[in-house]
Amino acid sequence: MVDPYKTREDYPVLSLKVEGKNPIYFDNACMTLKPRQVIEAIEDYYNTYPGCGGRSAHKFALKVTMRYDEAREKLQGFVNASRKEEIIFTKNATEAINLVANSLWLKEGDMVLTTDKEHNSNLVPWHLLRDRKGVIHEVVPSNPDNTFNIENLKEKMSRKVKLVSLVHTSNLDGVTVPAREIIEIAHDYDALAMLDGAQSTPHREVDVQGLDVDFFALSVHKMAGPTGMGVLYGKYGLLENLEPFLGGGDTVQQTSYTRSEFLPPPEKFEAGLQNYAGAIGAGAAVDYLASIGMEEIHEHEVSLNRYISKGLWNLGAEIIGPEDPALRGGIVSFTIPGLDVHDIAMFVDEMANVMIRSGMHCVHSWFTARGMKGSARASVYLYNTKEEAKIFLESIGQMKEILG
Ligand code: ALA
Repeated sequence: MVDPYKTREDYPVLSLKVEGKNPIYFDNACMTLKPRQVIEAIEDYYNTYPGCGGRSAHKFALKVTMRYDEAREKLQGFVNASRKEEIIFTKNATEAINLVANSLWLKEGDMVLTTDKEHNSNLVPWHLLRDRKGVIHEVVPSNPDNTFNIENLKEKMSRKVKLVSLVHTSNLDGVTVPAREIIEIAHDYDALAMLDGAQSTPHREVDVQGLDVDFFALSVHKMAGPTGMGVLYGKYGLLENLEPFLGGGDTVQQTSYTRSEFLPPPEKFEAGLQNYAGAIGAGAAVDYLASIGMEEIHEHEVSLNRYISKGLWNLGAEIIGPEDPALRGGIVSFTIPGLDVHDIAMFVDEMANVMIRSGMHCVHSWFTARGMKGSARASVYLYNTKEEAKIFLESIGQMKEILG
């Protein structure tokens, strides 16, 4: 079990005073805090070998190339890819999904299925493809409690479906889809499967080979790593056949005035000078998370979720998603009848330094379909404590007394 009092010591920002009080950071689904192990790895790059990788042959450059490659291997191990060339560095999960959307051989009449509660990163790219190429996008309706409905997926499946692209764990409510079963169904119809793992990889073990998923996107800034870093995992045989996404330096073996000869993956997809500090920081982040243990992190979050959910229900809140906190991981997305969700977030920040997110969390489609303005969302991580959760609940209680 994670000892949050111990892990907190790794996070310099948690010992800062913000307006006289320690911050209580419950906005981890948006961005997690960074441990010193990650900050030091990035500083080490900038302080001691700040060169470019894959090009020059001097000592700085060779060290960057080596560390960049090591970071790729660490990510490979973290998601259990079969080879490091299946790991492509991107700037976030959104770019990873856009890469697949743009480079896959989808054409007019092909269908892409998503859930009905996708983050815009796994919705807008399909709208663009519909408008540009005539690709059809359809959503699979969830159960009334927001869990995935396999029967609804089966009803939508046909030979027209070429890609099933789903949020693995939802940033709206923390629900994780039964990915293995979904992927098997997709493959039965010769469709490919992609998972948006931005909210799963930071919180639970991910095994891309075990899942047999074709493409998997993740965002490093949500898993104790630096901003501006993401990863696309793809099965090597598929990556080899994808069209390049961005063209430029390091994607090519050779060029003439009329021709470009592309390198194999992953270089084919990593155009231009890369975010070396970011990749090295990503490697340090996955080492850090692995040293704590992903299942331990998940259990810790669920235990906080149980405490927060119970406290919120006692205060009359309505929680989005299934009743069982174990099905909502580290996310508690809620509304309180009669209170504006932005007011809730501002009040707890003002009164108790508790930082949560309010609004539609980039899942506008789900909220607007239900005529809702959004939710307040507390999302926890490995450094959050029950004591912090208690302060959060007390401040909600105060707000209800004053405004409710
Ligand atoms: N997707 C991120 C969130 O849910 C930005 O906050």
